[in-house]
Amino acid sequence: MRLRRALAALAAASGVAAAAAIAGHAVAADGERTAQANYILRCAGCHGMAGAGVPHAGIPDFHGLVGVFAGDEEGRTYLFNVPGVVGSSLSDAEKAAVMNLIMKRWAGESLPADFAAFTAEEVTARRAVPVESIVDFRRAIVDRLSAEGIVTAEYPWP
Ligand code: HEC
Repeated sequence: MRLRRALAALAAASGVAAAAAIAGHAVAADGERTAQANYILRCAGCHGMAGAGVPHAGIPDFHGLVGVFAGDEEGRTYLFNVPGVVGSSLSDAEKAAVMNLIMKRWAGESLPADFAAFTAEEVTARRAVPVESIVDFRRAIVDRLSAEGIVTAEYPWP
């Protein structure tokens, strides 16, 4: 009798664990769906549904390139100070999620192996760094990286 009760308790407990795991999965999937919706609504108008941008018009291609910035201290600050992100009216958590989505989807081999996903707290801190000219800031980062042989997206802005 005692054994049967113990088994019933165990079954109930594992049922709870399974339900929690399923709920957790749903939350994760929802988070990604929201990031995808935000990308479509706030970013794809310029960057395109496939993240290819319009390089000759000054919208950088993400493919195999954008991850370089995620692996660089100043680059990570740059990402959250580009005008399209600053003016997106997304929360810092949403900005982090949409940037993580871009990295996962398009950074490819440019993403560092030890990539640390962006969090809302990091976005808040990086937005507080004063960046006077985004074009000059990007150029300085790219000059430093290209001296190490690291390639970034084509960028025609003067
Ligand atoms: C109005 C057009 C526009 C929109 C909308 C826009 N961007 Fe951009 N984005 C640009 C341009 C132009 C650049 C190049 C940097 C610069 O000169 O501002 C850029 C650069 C970037 C970069 C860095 C790529 C590189 O190689 O320098 C990332 C990442 C990025 N945008 C993400 C986003 C995200 C995420 C959103 C949506 C929340 C978004 N952008 C919305 C135009 C836009």
